[in-house]
Amino acid sequence: MTDGLQRAQQKMAEAGVAEQAINVFTDYYRQLQQGSTGYIAEDSIEPLTDPDLLSEVELDPEDARRAIDQTVIIKLNGGLGTSMGLDRAKSLLPVRDGATFLDLIAGQVLAARAEHGARLPLIFMDSFRTRDDTLERLRRHPELAVAGLDLDFLQNSEPKLRADDLTPVEWPADPSLEWCPPGHGDLYPALAASGLLDRLLEQGFRYASVSNSDNLGAAPNATIAGWFAASGAPYAAEVCRRTAADRKGGHLAIRKSDRRLILRDTAQTSADEMDYFTDEHRHPYFHTNNLWFDLEVLAATLAERNGVLGLPMIRNEKTVDPTDPSSPKVIQVESAMGAAVEVFDGATAIGVGRERFLPVKTTNDLLLLRSDAYRVADDGRLVSTADPMPLVDLDPAHYKTIQAFDERIRVVPSLREATRLFVRGDWTFDQPVRVVGEAVLDGPGGQVPPFLPPTPAD
Ligand code: UTP
Repeated sequence: MTDGLQRAQQKMAEAGVAEQAINVFTDYYRQLQQGSTGYIAEDSIEPLTDPDLLSEVELDPEDARRAIDQTVIIKLNGGLGTSMGLDRAKSLLPVRDGATFLDLIAGQVLAARAEHGARLPLIFMDSFRTRDDTLERLRRHPELAVAGLDLDFLQNSEPKLRADDLTPVEWPADPSLEWCPPGHGDLYPALAASGLLDRLLEQGFRYASVSNSDNLGAAPNATIAGWFAASGAPYAAEVCRRTAADRKGGHLAIRKSDRRLILRDTAQTSADEMDYFTDEHRHPYFHTNNLWFDLEVLAATLAERNGVLGLPMIRNEKTVDPTDPSSPKVIQVESAMGAAVEVFDGATAIGVGRERFLPVKTTNDLLLLRSDAYRVADDGRLVSTADPMPLVDLDPAHYKTIQAFDERIRVVPSLREATRLFVRGDWTFDQPVRVVGEAVLDGPGGQVPPFLPPTPAD
């Protein structure tokens, strides 16, 4: 086993991986050897029920402006969107009128700069798989550049480990598949190892506002920046009120032993405690993965801890070639960025509205964003036009991957007046379709009629 660790360390060193990243990996490897499950028991925590609320924040606009001028926007862009069958950055998908997530994010940041007269750099955390395409697309927005700062920094990479003996896997058919990004918890070591953390501090930036590049709701927000600066907290997570439909996704809780806030994700909940985890009355807020931290405190904390924040480990079991289920089983050790809430003394949370949480995890989410249930506002934000937002449930057998979805949904249906679109079967949308109220398409499939549900006249 130790041999496995040594081989992994050597492989990382030979590939030029930063020492800090090797130290973080080593820490997780030891936990893996000890058989750590990483579960957080329900009786060891108390629910978070009363965070500050963005809707109640009162602020001098000048304080908000000053805080946003000291803020850098960071977008997590290292994942591949494998659950939608993608093998490149999800943010390259077109959302509206040919504009991709990246284009819309650029628009949001430029609008916020203009509104607040702020420098507001936009920086992507890419992985070795997403960098080239992302930078290529961003060339369309030359005005994003901020002197002295790059548009992205690169995540670390780590070897995938064979599940049977924890040695680095070998895959000569495609050696790039021997490596993976270590989850978005890598943000902190990657920011430091790339030198960006120091550069930002030198340039007078103080706060980072971080979110997923697939969440177009997480636009720059001067009020939250002002609230965060005034709070003096080193770290804050944005949380959102849960509904019965929000059964997945992590939540914050208070650890009884030391009264610290912690993040509990699905992977950290044992099967027999899932009922507590998904109970929206017991844990009324979920974690949006939008968060804020003080760059100075991060730099000091990393320096104190030899670059290892000690975020809880997530053990992810996959196959070395994600598209080939018969390829060897591997373990990817990962960590979640939001788990850092437990690291910083005085970390806090703020309750925000749903409009700050519009993630695209499935083609159902993508269909809604592409439809007239949203419009793009002048500040680049996607604003809902439907109330309540319709529930979309497309047949996973025919629409799960982006390829299958694009083949069948050639003309996006109108969903503004819909409450629910439920599709089973192989249906093709190749003409304008208006969905009103609740529509269920079932049966083998075919071409969808222009009006759903069909009126008696159809
Ligand atoms: P998720 O873990 O939710 O993944 O990442 P995803 O992109 O939806 O993809 P699959 O379908 O699970 O593969 C949340 C955000 O974190 C980024 C992703 O790009 C996404 O914006 N991320 C994830 C990273 O930047 N690095 C990582 O190592 C993992």
